[in-house]
Amino acid sequence: MYRTHHCNELRKSNAGETATLVGWVNTVRDQGGVIFIDIRDREGVTQCVFRSEENADAAKLSHSLRGEDVIQVTGRVDDRPEIEGQSTVNDKIETGEVELVATELKILNKAEVLPFQLDKELSSEDLRMKHRYLDLRRPRMTNNLRTRHTITKAIRDGLDDNGFVEIETPILSKSTPEGARDFLVPSRLNPGKFYALPQAPQQYKQLLMVAGVERYFQIARCFRDEDLRADRQPEFTQVDIEASFVESEDIFALIESLLAKVFKESQGVDIQTPFERLDYWDAMDRYGSDKPERRFGCEIVDLTSHFADSGFGVFKRAVEAGGVVRAINAKGFAGVSTGQIKRLEEVAKEAGAGGLAYIQVRGATKDTWRSPIVKFFSEEELAAIEKDLNIEEGDLILFGCDTRATVCDVLGRLRLECAEMNNWLEGKEDELDFHWIVDFPLLGFDEEEGKWNAVHHPFTRPKAGQEELLADESKWGEIRAEAYDVVLNGNELGGGSVRIHEGDLQSKMFSVLGIDEEEQAENFGHILGAFQYGAPPHAGIALGLDRLVMLACKEDSIREVIAFPKNNKGVDLMSASPAEVDFKQLRELYVKSTVQDRKGS
Ligand code: AMO
Ligand code: AMP
Repeated sequence: MYRTHHCNELRKSNAGETATLVGWVNTVRDQGGVIFIDIRDREGVTQCVFRSEENADAAKLSHSLRGEDVIQVTGRVDDRPEIEGQSTVNDKIETGEVELVATELKILNKAEVLPFQLDKELSSEDLRMKHRYLDLRRPRMTNNLRTRHTITKAIRDGLDDNGFVEIETPILSKSTPEGARDFLVPSRLNPGKFYALPQAPQQYKQLLMVAGVERYFQIARCFRDEDLRADRQPEFTQVDIEASFVESEDIFALIESLLAKVFKESQGVDIQTPFERLDYWDAMDRYGSDKPERRFGCEIVDLTSHFADSGFGVFKRAVEAGGVVRAINAKGFAGVSTGQIKRLEEVAKEAGAGGLAYIQVRGATKDTWRSPIVKFFSEEELAAIEKDLNIEEGDLILFGCDTRATVCDVLGRLRLECAEMNNWLEGKEDELDFHWIVDFPLLGFDEEEGKWNAVHHPFTRPKAGQEELLADESKWGEIRAEAYDVVLNGNELGGGSVRIHEGDLQSKMFSVLGIDEEEQAENFGHILGAFQYGAPPHAGIALGLDRLVMLACKEDSIREVIAFPKNNKGVDLMSASPAEVDFKQLRELYVKSTVQDRKGS
């Protein structure tokens, strides 16, 4: 037996017992010949004391120990003594009332000097990633991995309790239109043909409904070749769910109870259910986002009606063109610096704004309003915005004028930027704002491609009664989908929909998306075929497991809750993947490398 206890187990009640611990040397302190070693395993740390009177050889050997050596220590559990009337109890650690007085020491393995210290937060993420196996030894990371396990287990148990069956679907699969670029895998046995790694098991789970499974789930790895951000990885994990003979309401209730279980079991927190529901356009108009952060106010205010006939040309022209004039009141931010205004302007322009009009409200009267545009406003316009925006001394007003969609995006981003600049979320770290965004538009027009795309995906159902509108292109923009997202604190946790289960409606939907019959047969023949043989009504959802764990662990990036993540270039720095492969390997796969060609091989 390597050990009798783990390193966070010994207490006062064990005093006098003999114990053996194994783990890593966390710290070494030499206090005048007496060596104190904190030994660490995944559960915690225990102090070991080496005195030559207990065992001269062990004490001598302890002098050679360095951080992260792997050791086994046997000794007597003692109460921490009083020294010169002072208690030596360490209340920062759970084993702090006792220490292990070592009588034996065995070095199981020596460690080289580490590339970084484990007790300091590192600024270089690259260094952490290169030695991820060391990074993961840090208590914060150990804790994140274990929270992830607890959450995954709560989800499995919760779904099992509700009759859901866990089923694996293929990783080597076929390209599916989830919206991102596919990762492709060449097939050696089928020259010139490729598998695609699944962006989501969407079609397989629907086919399982046709197969009569009724309640499916999978902790599913998904792959999307898209640009990476803090909340996006090229491979990530979904809690993928599908059920037959259910409506949106059933999915809402299921997910609410599942998330309540997750937060109870992983954080000991009771969350409030049911979650509030926001109509998609209501969320867009008020927060400029379909994943609104609502823990601070600063809602968007519509001012369009006041500026239809304005003396300020920029606003007037926007209204004439069918657009909107809207603003946010960043309370107390009148002291915004020139640099910050520049930054806010950049944010607005990235979202498509022509510029950024603002007012700094420096005093109680309007003559103190500092702004490049108020000089163009009439008395009525000034009075109207003062009232609608509840303008008070110290405020900063930021305007947007353009199409509704652009202004939503511009002011939505400005609101978040102002929150960041002013730390509006400080002290709200424990607030959990769960809500549903419902009734998404079914279709969105892509100006660049000049075509209509599915807002969620092509298998999503129009709202009941709106199916006929698919026959009239002029109405496509108005059709709402039976689709929903669950949002937590400004993050899209998950999304899903009620599905189309009729072959003809699915085929109609594909045509709307510009997929002709030939292409439908080639790419979607399996699902269209399946719908001919009694497909049940069904609905589902997928939660982003990485995002859920990130939020539960109060981390800023999903990389902190994935054991071996990729960096923002999609590279695993530890194993140096992706990597070049042998020309021979490529030849076997009938793949010609243009990179190899260029090297002349
Ligand atoms: P969707 O594409 O909305 O829906 O994905 C569901 C959830 O998966 C998470 N997610 C990601 N997490 C990390 N990195 C990524 N690159 C990434 N992309 C998505 C998000 C998101 O809400 N098949 C449908 C679901 C359905 O209709 O049932 C789907 O995949 O949290
Ligand atoms: P201009 O007439 O272009 O000099 O613009 C006058 C003011 O309106 C400047 O402060 C611009 O930053 C601002 N402005 C221009 N276009 C927009 C827009 N689309 N939304 C908000 N403000 C704008």
